[in-house]
Amino acid sequence: MTMSKGVGAGLRHLLTLADLTPQSLLALLDRAQVFRTHPHNTTAFRHLLAGHAVCGLFFEPSTRTRSSFQLAAQRLGADVLHFDVATSSAGKGESDVDTLRTIEAMGVQGFVVRHPREGAVAELAGHAGPGTAVINAGDGRHAHPTQALLDMLTLRQAKGADFSRLRVLIVGDVRHSRVARSAVQALRMLGCAGIRVCAPEALLPDDEALAGSEITQDFDAAIASVDAVMMLRLQRERMQDGVVASLDDYRRDYRLDARRLGLAAPDAVVLHPGPINREVEIASDVADGPQSLILQQVANGVAVRMAVLEALLAPGTDRAE
Ligand code: NCD
Repeated sequence: MTMSKGVGAGLRHLLTLADLTPQSLLALLDRAQVFRTHPHNTTAFRHLLAGHAVCGLFFEPSTRTRSSFQLAAQRLGADVLHFDVATSSAGKGESDVDTLRTIEAMGVQGFVVRHPREGAVAELAGHAGPGTAVINAGDGRHAHPTQALLDMLTLRQAKGADFSRLRVLIVGDVRHSRVARSAVQALRMLGCAGIRVCAPEALLPDDEALAGSEITQDFDAAIASVDAVMMLRLQRERMQDGVVASLDDYRRDYRLDARRLGLAAPDAVVLHPGPINREVEIASDVADGPQSLILQQVANGVAVRMAVLEALLAPGTDRAE
């Protein structure tokens, strides 16, 4: 299978999905699908980024995003470095920019950056040298573009490529969620008109990111007949105390359990970016049940990140495979 050359042409960094056109987003999903389904995908692509080096700079904890970027870079043959602030010189007062420049000086061209502050990854990208690519692995509540790409790949595998009639419900801590903001952006780019968002008032977005979506606080009404439910983690680390008055109330009104899932379309699928708070936003039998795609999302994450790294670091290579 081949991909037309130059999917990444003109793409310098991936900071938000606004850096992509709908066509380049689709090309990334197509390429990720190739990586995902290739029978020898752990070994067959190790020439693509041979000689390149990729560094993860994580100013905030991560399990899935961090390890899948690492595996993705390794499966493309790149050298991989990783820095957690807790263990690097950033803890000694070095600025984020100096950390980036130092590693850049070692010949690293690809940076995967997660930061608790909105806009911090774009600021770092503004200080990067001309040959350096920066990928946003999540900045505050602002954006998480590769999560949205893997969510779209997962939805496409389950529901087909035509998103125009898809009804998607996003539920939970929307206010603090970069995942929700990027997912809505991606769904719109793919032509999905049926986006519903459901959260208690205190967790509804306080910005314009979700304008145009159907917004409600009534989960039972919102879930009726939807094709996909994207659950979000309650992000207590981004909240002031008291935003959610009672976890019991939250569970009662916003936990996805088998009864509520029964109100969705019969073949509805369930997504969650992880990490999940079992029995807070999602019941275990749903998270582990037949309609859950949570582990497929994780598997797709590696493939999507391979596609993004390739597009940014080796956009002109011959990708016949
Ligand atoms: C998400 C994140 O960090 O934005 N996790 C992830 O990347 N899979 C969601 C979350 O932490 O709730």
